[in-house]
Amino acid sequence: MKVLALIGSPRKKGNTETLLRAVLQGAEAAGGEIALIRLCDLHIQPCIGCGGCDKTGECVLQDDMQAMYPKILESQRVILASPIYFYGITAQAKGFVDRCQALWNRKRLLTEKGEWRKDPTRKGFLVTVSATHGERVFEGAILTAKYAFDAMGMAYGGEFAVKGMDGRGDMAKDAATLARAEEAGRKFMD
Ligand SMILES: Cc1cc2nc3c(=O)[nH]c(=O)nc-3n(C[C@H](O)[C@H](O)[C@H](O)COP(=O)(O)O)c2cc1C
Repeated sequence: MKVLALIGSPRKKGNTETLLRAVLQGAEAAGGEIALIRLCDLHIQPCIGCGGCDKTGECVLQDDMQAMYPKILESQRVILASPIYFYGITAQAKGFVDRCQALWNRKRLLTEKGEWRKDPTRKGFLVTVSATHGERVFEGAILTAKYAFDAMGMAYGGEFAVKGMDGRGDMAKDAATLARAEEAGRKFMD
């Protein structure tokens, strides 16, 4: 089963990456074929709202996102990983999500033609960390992820979200949570 993991943190070996790698360890153990992509290494322009994809389901902007569309469509699982920045996902992750508008239009156009084949086995998952313990700290990221996975034609498979992680090595010190994350990655393959 193809698993596309997208890391939206600009901080290498940071908390998001540590948590994501634990989830991926579980996913791989359960048979997932993992492709890990660092969104910060890609050149993905922000959506310009031109409406170009309205009639075609394809984005007019020619950059690294073009190679991402087929990868998304051929994956049975997508994992979006991002730390919380101002109650949402990072700019890099949001830039990627906004460009999924082309997929949202693709799905709408195929539905209108009666050609959309819903595949309930395709699922998306959110991995996220925050510094604070705010009660509503993950709400924005979860809503964004749900809508993004819907555009990708995927059901929302849940999230693994950890509060109180700030310094680069904080997540790596919490072996118990990482073990739970690995288990969540395993279950996400079901
Ligand atoms: C620009 C910026 C905005 C942030 N906003 C929030 C926030 O709104 N709430 C919060 O709990 N943490 C916030 N944080 C803290 C990060 O979520 C936290 O440090 C996280 O562990 C970083 O993950 P990383 O190591 O993967 O980069 C922010 C950090 C930065 C750099």
